[in-house]
Amino acid sequence: MLSRPRRNRKSQVIRDMIQENHLRASDLIFPLFIIDGQSKKTEVSSMPGIYRYSIDLLLKEVEDCMNLGLKAFDLFPNIEESLKDKTASESLNKNGLYLKAIREVKKYFPEACVITDVAMDPYSSDGHDGLVKDGEILNDETLEILARMSLAQAEAGADIIAPSDMMDGRVGYIREALDREGFTHVSIMSYTAKYASAFYGPFRDALESAPKFGDKKTYQMNPANQKEALIEGALDVEEGADFLMVKPALPYLDVIKTLKDNFDLPIAAYNVSGEYAMVKAAIQNGWLDEQKAITEVLMGIKRAGADVILTYHAKEVLQKGWI
Ligand code: PBG
Repeated sequence: MLSRPRRNRKSQVIRDMIQENHLRASDLIFPLFIIDGQSKKTEVSSMPGIYRYSIDLLLKEVEDCMNLGLKAFDLFPNIEESLKDKTASESLNKNGLYLKAIREVKKYFPEACVITDVAMDPYSSDGHDGLVKDGEILNDETLEILARMSLAQAEAGADIIAPSDMMDGRVGYIREALDREGFTHVSIMSYTAKYASAFYGPFRDALESAPKFGDKKTYQMNPANQKEALIEGALDVEEGADFLMVKPALPYLDVIKTLKDNFDLPIAAYNVSGEYAMVKAAIQNGWLDEQKAITEVLMGIKRAGADVILTYHAKEVLQKGWI
């Protein structure tokens, strides 16, 4: 035997020397849930260790993270049921929970990167990402609402707008609206290939945003399809996206790799709520080693081609010194 791959595995020093991929704090984006009120922190029951924070405690949490070197946050609001309506009008309320949270985070932590979610579902009385009429999700009518939402978020200080709705043409529509109003510096992280997945369940618990009827299959992608992600990717590039995202991550590592191989924009992957819940449940049962399982999951996503990972594990991996 002339070639013995084990020689390159014989010591920690050599293993470290030839390690192909690395996880760094700067690769991670931490999703944070916000709730109305004061000094309020409620755990999401299907996501142990993950909380909804009132704005005062959100600022503390952001400060903690910044001290750990975690500097990018994706904010999601839990909106009171009574404030929801057909057109998601609460999303434009300057004194509402979400826009206020964006302003506060940017005020106290101007160097933090604030990523904001654009989609109707947290504010929609139908629980859908688009405008509903006679049981149908209307595409073009939704675009104007998404553009207004994006402008309100940009005005509040968002660094990156992340449309998670999967309406056709929304990246271009939002880009034009932002540019027209002088927000040429605000980036767009497009949910390029967002699948109609079972793994969003705990997130919908966190926001209490589950659809009131039907499912999201007329806008989110079929889990069986890969080539369709190339169609979505090409459109997003053409429409001016700055990042392409794949969501969820673990069951779609091939899609991450395909987008990475076919496009030159940075690729983000969303290690979603159900993926987090699955790993945490096994850990709680003593079935998996916590540190090894979590770092292996994140490394797998990185190795598949993700430049950036949105993950609920972001804070713990830094706090516990695992990366
Ligand atoms: C909705 C949205 C969802 C997530 C982010 N934005 C859920 C959905 O499409 O129903 C899921 C994130 C997660 O599960 O962690 N616009």
